[in-house]
Amino acid sequence: MSRFLPVAKLAEIPDQSAKCVQVEGKEIALFNLGGEFYAIDDECTHEGGPLSDGIILGEEVECPWHSAHFNIKSGEVTQDPAEDAVTCYKVRVIGDNVEVEV
Ligand code: FES
Repeated sequence: MSRFLPVAKLAEIPDQSAKCVQVEGKEIALFNLGGEFYAIDDECTHEGGPLSDGIILGEEVECPWHSAHFNIKSGEVTQDPAEDAVTCYKVRVIGDNVEVEV
């Protein structure tokens, strides 16, 4: 059964930045886009690049290894060479905690 778990403090993820968090054995990239938080798998579906280290371009993140783009809100691929979407997770903010549903 899925549940929300606290993974970071609000202050750890400034606007237009990302952080890799470990949740139940998964590595998840947590993004702050204008005060809204989004979570996707940190591992690029191409060859495993760390998306939390990628460049944020609007609602997309560019993989630091071979420049695939993913939509941060949907996980969909928007630029090659990746072909498969990354998994998205629900995020909520409770007090100053950012929580992810896993
Ligand atoms: S590992 Fe991400 S584009 Fe290749």
